[in-house]
Amino acid sequence: MTTASAPGKIILFGEHAVVYGRPAIAAPVSQLRATARIENQSSFDVDLIAPQIQRRRTLQNAPDNDPLALTLRLFQSEAGLTFLANLAITVESDIPIASGMGSGAALTAAVLRALAKHFRKPALLNPAVLSRLTYEVEKIHHGTPSGIDNTVVSYERPIYFERHEPENLIEPFRVERPLRFLIGMTGVQSQTKAVVGDVRRQWENDSKRFETLFDACGEITRAARRALQDGNATALGQLMNDNHHVLQQMTVSSPELDGLTEVATRAGALGAKLSGAGRGGNMIALVMSEAETAVKNALRHAGATAVYATTL
Ligand code: PMV
Repeated sequence: MTTASAPGKIILFGEHAVVYGRPAIAAPVSQLRATARIENQSSFDVDLIAPQIQRRRTLQNAPDNDPLALTLRLFQSEAGLTFLANLAITVESDIPIASGMGSGAALTAAVLRALAKHFRKPALLNPAVLSRLTYEVEKIHHGTPSGIDNTVVSYERPIYFERHEPENLIEPFRVERPLRFLIGMTGVQSQTKAVVGDVRRQWENDSKRFETLFDACGEITRAARRALQDGNATALGQLMNDNHHVLQQMTVSSPELDGLTEVATRAGALGAKLSGAGRGGNMIALVMSEAETAVKNALRHAGATAVYATTL
């Protein structure tokens, strides 16, 4: 039996603008993980088993757009294997789905890692290779993803990212002083593809205004990188508030996200913003240790369906 896993992620700065070439910063959430388990079996089939959604398929019968099946076909071709057979692949995840935490990318990366270990193909464990293959599967979920989700779950490091052709700028970095983030779930599912598509329509209708908003996000993200590297939590909090305001102007916030960010700052967070595609999903708040419990309680009281904590 072979097992492997990959983490969830949060976008700290620059979502949406990153699709249009501006920088973004994202970080792994290592305690929330997707896991894949591979077992040999006597039956010739490759069984794809996802107990949490009561799904069991065989690779042979899976539809073309099945993310797990595509993951296996990509692996097979990259590893130069003529066929895959006699395998049972089980996937499980504690990353909430459709919540801006990269659950799809994490699942793909976990399966690819498990396959690379099982078939002794260490070259495929390289984060750049893992990320490239995961990106191919992300296209099913997201249409035209920027590539930040697959990058951060594959490198499992905080990443400064810019989308470029032919190669993205990927800079893993170290945070000067530990920073504590609370992640508040709205409980409203967020469909990244739909929200990204809606931003594109708005950009097409008024590109001048949207380019200005994207530029503002880019400036905020660059300043945030400096604040992260200097360990300047106060500046970082303010930049989170600023980024949230720009995202509001892009119409990707929601009453739930605005409500949770507001109560978090009122309860003592240094800053708060929506994270990911928006219109649901999650928000993040930066907290010092003395305010953590108060902010957590305030988020729960204001309707957060779950609150996670993570340290960068
Ligand atoms: O998948 P989510 O909800 O974390 O959002 C992805 C971030 C976007 O910038 C909105 C889209 C993208 O591809 O980068």
